Amino acid sequence: METAYNQPLKFSADNNFNFKEFMLETQPEHSIQPTFADQKRKTVEAAEFTEDGRYKRKVRSFVLRTGRLSDYQKNAMNQNWAALGLDYQPQPFDFNAIYGNDNPVILEIGFGMGSSLVEMAAQNPDKNYLGIEVHTPGVGACIAYAVEKGVTNLRVICHDATEILRDSIADQSLGGLQLFFPDPWHKARHHKRRIVQPHFIDRLLNKLQAGAFIHMATDWQNYAEHMLDVLQQYPQLRNTSDTNDYIPRPDFRPLTKFEQRGHRLGHGVWDLYFIKS
Ligand SMILES: C[S@@+](CC[C@H](N)C(=O)[O-])C[C@H]1O[C@@H](n2cnc3c(N)ncnc32)[C@H](O)[C@@H]1O
Repeated sequence: METAYNQPLKFSADNNFNFKEFMLETQPEHSIQPTFADQKRKTVEAAEFTEDGRYKRKVRSFVLRTGRLSDYQKNAMNQNWAALGLDYQPQPFDFNAIYGNDNPVILEIGFGMGSSLVEMAAQNPDKNYLGIEVHTPGVGACIAYAVEKGVTNLRVICHDATEILRDSIADQSLGGLQLFFPDPWHKARHHKRRIVQPHFIDRLLNKLQAGAFIHMATDWQNYAEHMLDVLQQYPQLRNTSDTNDYIPRPDFRPLTKFEQRGHRLGHGVWDLYFIKS
C-alpha cells in the first residue's frame, strides 16, 4: 500500500518541508497519525536542487538507518522538543537566547544514543551543549535521558551536522567541538564520506572562538592517522599531545556506547585534542 512515507518529500521555496501540507495531500485529514517525531525522520537534510530542478545528491557522512523508533523515544521527542530540540534554520542560532546565558557552547556531532553527551552536560553546568545526530532513535533516547537527568544546558538537533555548521552556527560562536567515534568508512573508496576533511575543518575553524578545543576520538587507526594528518595542516591549531600525536582518554570524556562495544571486541582507541589559538 502506498503511504505518505513512500511519497517524495515536498519542500517550500525557503527549503522547509511542510509536513501538514504533505500529509493533507497524501492522506485524508481524519487518518493523519504520524507525530512530530515521525516527521523528523524524513527531514534530516535540507533538499538542494540543480538549476533544472533535479535533486542534488550529496556525499554524506552517514547512511540513514531505519532503526525502530520506540514509543518511549517517540514520546520523549514529542513531549520535550520545545524545551530540548532545535530545528535546522538558514540563519545562525542566538545561543544567549536559547540557553539563557553566555556560557561556552560545545558542539557534539554524531552523539549516537547520547548517553555520554548527557553525562557531560550534567557534569558541566557551566557549559552549554549542542548535540547533532541524524539517527532519530538516538535523538529520542538522548532526550529521554536528558529529561531523566534533569539536564537543562543541552539542546539537540536531528539534521545533517555539515548543513547546521554551514548555515545555523555563527562564526566564532563555539567553545569546542566533540567528534567521538564518527563513522570510519573503512574502505578506501568510501574515505571521501568521512566527515573529517580539510573543507570541514576550514568551516569549523571559522565557527570556533579563540581558545576553543577540537576533541576527536576513534577506534580505527587509519581514521586516527587521517584526523592527525588533516589537523596538523593548520598552524592555528596546537596539538596538546606530549608526543605530538594522540592523548590518553581524558577522565572528563565518558566512555561512549560505540566505544564500549569496541572495547569488547578488543579495539584500540585514539583521542586527539587540539586548541585553536
Ligand atoms: C559510529 S556512531 C558513534 C556514535 C557515538 N558518538 C558513540 O560513540 O556511541 C557515528 C554517529 O554519527 C552520526 N552521524 C554521521 N554523520 C553525521 C552527520 N553529518 N550529522 C549528524 N550525525 C551524523 C551517525 O548517525 C552515527 O550515529
